[in-house]
Amino acid sequence: CSSLGIGLAGLGTVGSGVVLALERNAGLICDRTGGVVNLEVAKVLVRDLNKVRPVNLPAEKLTTSWQELVADPAVDIVVELIGGTTDAYEIVSAALKAGKPVVTGNKALLAERGVELFALSKEHDAPIHFEAAVAGGIPIIKTVQESFIGNRIHSITGIINGTSNYILERMTTAGLEFSAALAEAQALGYAEADPALDVNGWDAAHKAILLASLAYGFPIDPAQVHVAGIEQVRPIDIEFATRLGYVVKLLAVVREHPGGEVELRLQPSFIPKSHILASVHGVFNAVAVHGDAAGESLFYGRGAGQDPTASSVVADLVEAARSLRQTTGHRGFLPYRESGVLLPVEDTETAYY
Ligand code: NAP
Ligand code: HSE
Repeated sequence: CSSLGIGLAGLGTVGSGVVLALERNAGLICDRTGGVVNLEVAKVLVRDLNKVRPVNLPAEKLTTSWQELVADPAVDIVVELIGGTTDAYEIVSAALKAGKPVVTGNKALLAERGVELFALSKEHDAPIHFEAAVAGGIPIIKTVQESFIGNRIHSITGIINGTSNYILERMTTAGLEFSAALAEAQALGYAEADPALDVNGWDAAHKAILLASLAYGFPIDPAQVHVAGIEQVRPIDIEFATRLGYVVKLLAVVREHPGGEVELRLQPSFIPKSHILASVHGVFNAVAVHGDAAGESLFYGRGAGQDPTASSVVADLVEAARSLRQTTGHRGFLPYRESGVLLPVEDTETAYY
């Protein structure tokens, strides 16, 4: 498999997850792409060179200079996983200007400055991939951007912040205080470096802006978006919801009105216990996309955390690598193994669930 070098900016929850996922599955990716894609971590940007980390990388691969990372000739693809909108903007724009594809999970950056960055992307013919920016491991960007390309999208609604969903659930089912539930979400790697963005609704709002931008194609000013987060939810709200047969969820609503205007709002909402969204527990997200041709489809999965998010980053890396190689490589039913074993049915369980 011929190698492509990754410049990984950020070695925190998600960055470490990407290194671990590539360590585990690089051979599989090479096989499954027909030998087209072998991803190697060439350079890694961190703030603190001496921090003890869950991944072992040779010291010479670490740097505290993003300029060094972007300019390194061994770096073919730049992955931005530092978060924030200042240094991250510098890194992404420098990479694009150098003609290097970018993979990012940074919804704040794209919601705030995506229009400028995609203009740079077009000018320098260097793509930006951002599956990890919305709903962790759920391939919702690909869904809206590609799978639903033949649909007029009526609405996109759902639960798109894992931390808020986790906190609400722990407050409801375990009776935890807000601060204790948030501390758990942080320890599990779900929360943003600045968790205010999770609890004030803005992380979900940034994601909703990305989905609405893809679905409706016009620039959206974040200042115009109605955002209320779960910090406004009081224990008595949860108590009333429970008594009346509802659960409280932070709901994102993106909806086209008959006149073509787009409604975009984020707010804690009462959901009937019988509704499918009421069964979205813990860190899970669920997004319903309603298209004029497909009707409504529901996408469900882990919305945050190290491995699910790394899964989306790695998928984007493979996509970027295929483009750089100017081939899709291996697709479909062409075998990449000589043989495999189908388990005889008598050796399987009949009760699946
Ligand atoms: P994190 O754990 O806080 O990691 C951030 C990493 O970036 C750290 O390694 C840090 O270095 C490095 N860093 C931060 N600022 C830097 C700077 N100015 N210069 C150099 N290095 C810098 O964050 P994360 O949870 O991995 O999230 C990363 C991005 O992914 C964010 O945009 C976030 O919104 C997005 N995301 C996260 C999740 C999730 O579940 N966590 C899911 C989807 C998307 P040190 O280690 O040396 O401090
Ligand atoms: N903090 C975010 C969340 C990470 O909890 O959903 C995933 O984008």
